[in-house]
Amino acid sequence: MQKDAKDLSAIEIYKLLIGLVTPRPIAFVTTLSENGIVNAAPFSFYNVVCSDPPMLAVSVARKDDGSSKDTSRNIRRTGEFVVHTAEESLIEKINHTSCPYPSSISEVERAGLTTVPGKLVKVPRVAECRVAMECKLVQIVELGNGPDSDLIIGEVVHFAVDDEVVNNGRVDVEKLAPVARLAGSNYSKLGSVFAMERPKYTPE
Ligand SMILES: Cc1cc2nc3c(=O)[nH]c(=O)nc-3n(C[C@H](O)[C@H](O)[C@H](O)COP(=O)(O)O)c2cc1C
Repeated sequence: MQKDAKDLSAIEIYKLLIGLVTPRPIAFVTTLSENGIVNAAPFSFYNVVCSDPPMLAVSVARKDDGSSKDTSRNIRRTGEFVVHTAEESLIEKINHTSCPYPSSISEVERAGLTTVPGKLVKVPRVAECRVAMECKLVQIVELGNGPDSDLIIGEVVHFAVDDEVVNNGRVDVEKLAPVARLAGSNYSKLGSVFAMERPKYTPE
């Protein structure tokens, strides 16, 4: 297949992208509404983008009418959010939080999850998640036509990681069992893990 992006419709491009850029990690994000309601939702347009200081980026699409999703709106207002790793044992509950409930309803409660207070941010984290990264907003970059999406860049100011999944500062990914997003409604679990050294250059 050979296509210039300008010859494809928006939906064709979206379908291609979510199939081509895969598997994607899933950020399970909590934020706080103006009424103190804990909002939660999963996002797979997500990755780590800097390590000194640690920074994460999550891309939150605008709604069809151009308005922001609750996650984006809350982060813009409070400057804080928490990113949890989407673990296999919690993935159905995490998926439940993607339901477009009105802002007055906490997806966390509806999904049967509970929260504990954040350490350095006012946004609570999800108690059942073994990994939570408390973030302070660095920048929101509005991307695309409309804009299409808000790219949210946050600095991790606190890591709350269960000792069960970390050993001498190294994460045991098999114990963590992260789930990744594929295209459509498909997900993948961690496959077989293998190691490979990076090549070293030796001048001739
Ligand atoms: C696994 C998964 C990944 C998702 N990834 C994204 C994403 O990267 N960007 C996005 O805007 N919405 C994504 N969504 C949809 C949002 O979770 C959904 O719109 C949610 O209702 C937003 O919540 P909010 O309005 O409380 O912010 C994803 C949904 C699921 C189930």
